[in-house]
Amino acid sequence: MSQDRKFYQLTLPERLEEIAAKTGLTSAESASLSGEAGLTPGLADKMVENAIGTFALPLGVAQNFLINGREVLIPMAVEEPSVIAGASFMARLAQSGGGFKAEADPPLMIGQMQILDCPDRQKAREAILARRDEILATAAAVDPIMVSLGGGPRGIEVREIADSPIGPFLVLHLIVDVLDAMGANAVNTSLERLTPLIEEITRGRVLLRILSNLSDKRLARASVRIPTSALAFEGFSGEQVRDGVIAAWAFAAADPYRAATHNKGIMNGIDAVVIATGNDWRAVEAGVHAYAARSGRYTSLSTWGRNDSGDLTGTLEMPMAVGIVGGATKVHPGAQAALKMMQVRSARELAGIIVSVGLAQNLAALRALATEGIQRGHMGLHARKEITRDDK
Ligand code: MEV
Repeated sequence: MSQDRKFYQLTLPERLEEIAAKTGLTSAESASLSGEAGLTPGLADKMVENAIGTFALPLGVAQNFLINGREVLIPMAVEEPSVIAGASFMARLAQSGGGFKAEADPPLMIGQMQILDCPDRQKAREAILARRDEILATAAAVDPIMVSLGGGPRGIEVREIADSPIGPFLVLHLIVDVLDAMGANAVNTSLERLTPLIEEITRGRVLLRILSNLSDKRLARASVRIPTSALAFEGFSGEQVRDGVIAAWAFAAADPYRAATHNKGIMNGIDAVVIATGNDWRAVEAGVHAYAARSGRYTSLSTWGRNDSGDLTGTLEMPMAVGIVGGATKVHPGAQAALKMMQVRSARELAGIIVSVGLAQNLAALRALATEGIQRGHMGLHARKEITRDDK
């Protein structure tokens, strides 16, 4: 019955049935996505303090995503209308250029240790570097399972913060391969375990020990190419749309006031998938915006241009510290089902998919803004219905 209708034309149960049939979701997993089951108040009580219940968001599935040649269903938890429709529509346009290409760096997280009161910072720095192997071995002993699976500490860096309100001090960076986890627990535990050794080596005083959310050794990137002919619509030629998107991007590239909004549009897509998969969206947000300001001036996270054939080309690169094991991804039944729906095999694959969604979302916003305006273009995409008392 559903074959001759588009996904958005199906009823909510029909959509869920179609997703379950495609991805092998069990009825319990489907129920955890529909809201009939899933995160119970009992589970919530185990996750946070003073729990009184749970808080729901709409969950939708973006369609048409072809990423590295694989069709991926994209779960998106978001309250804003048009986001899911915008991503799906741009993913359809992207198919005409072969879809998205995505990749992610190995999952290296940075843990920071603040070292105060060293009698001689230069000597302390040299002593840390001279005992690198011992430091890495001590950190590795914290999580032998992670090490046996191929992860664990990979390196150290020592930085001097020369100019701070309390004067100069040293910072040790511990670089850890966290495999398929987000990695905060592994990194923080290792740092705490290293404290006595580092105090002995530096003769200083260790204060903060915490991972950095500027996870710039764990970048993910996506790119897309869209033939101009696919961009034409209504009264707008493909060239007009392409050049409008490029001019809209140039505005964000040059102006932080516009870049904040431009990047917010990217995060509409990113956060929706990060939340649906039970990941820490505040960590992702923090890393992304710090990365956007890495040159000293806050700028666009994406770039748009044209290639020699005149096609519109887009790229997006950003830190993407997401996991598929541990934390809420493990506990939240809806997050588990969302990950199964995506059929991802690693945190790196998930990171690449998420950045592809961000790029699609960015294009949806720029295309609308550079043509008919956001109110008609973007907001008009979705089939929002009046919410009535019967919808409760
Ligand atoms: C609205 O949620 C997002 C946009 O403002 C993004 C943008 O301006 O690029 C439409």
